[in-house]
Amino acid sequence: MKRLAILLSGRGSNFEAIARNISEGKLEAEIAVVVSNNPDAKGLETAAGLGLKTVCLPSKGVDTGVWAAGAVEALRPFEADLICLAGFMRRVGGPLLEAYAGRILNIHPSLLPSFPGLHVQQQALDYGVKYSGCTVHFVDAGLDTGAIVKQAAVEVKDSDDADTLAARILVEEHRIYSEAIALVLSGRFKIQGRRVVETQARTAGV
Ligand code: GRF
Repeated sequence: MKRLAILLSGRGSNFEAIARNISEGKLEAEIAVVVSNNPDAKGLETAAGLGLKTVCLPSKGVDTGVWAAGAVEALRPFEADLICLAGFMRRVGGPLLEAYAGRILNIHPSLLPSFPGLHVQQQALDYGVKYSGCTVHFVDAGLDTGAIVKQAAVEVKDSDDADTLAARILVEEHRIYSEAIALVLSGRFKIQGRRVVETQARTAGV
């Protein structure tokens, strides 16, 4: 069974959706550990309540690279195949990127490359786009720049504010993150330039 490490900083609803999909048999994987850089993250409490292993590595005042090196050490015993950032509100430092090259995913609440960074739904409203959405992408050294695995579009309504738009996008996040994880864990894709292209399952004997 492939092993996931979840990194989160707050509410943890994407983590909960992943855990639910696993327990309902919709996603074949196990959560080896949930790591938070924020001791007060609700997601950490939820994980402990579900009986999952948790690690808290506070990042306040800690250099990004130093935190990442500590995270690599903390993650080692859990032998994760894939790291899933789920509302992880820090940049991923070099040591983590190197140790898990091509094995870190993030979920972002816009249709990248539009609106990277923070306050994303407000950015979308201020720009006046008619559609926004969410993106699951591989993590590289840039800010929300890695190759895109899955996206889902959501209509922006005239009546929307940042909260109502975020809530509708979140529904799609919860769906596509598990789909993207399943695809990446299956290994049935190749990366051509920036494009993540799905490949067919190899049939035995063919
Ligand atoms: C989500 O909108 C995610 O896309 C973004 O941060 C938010 C985290 O929400 N990266 P949650 O902690 O998963 O509920």
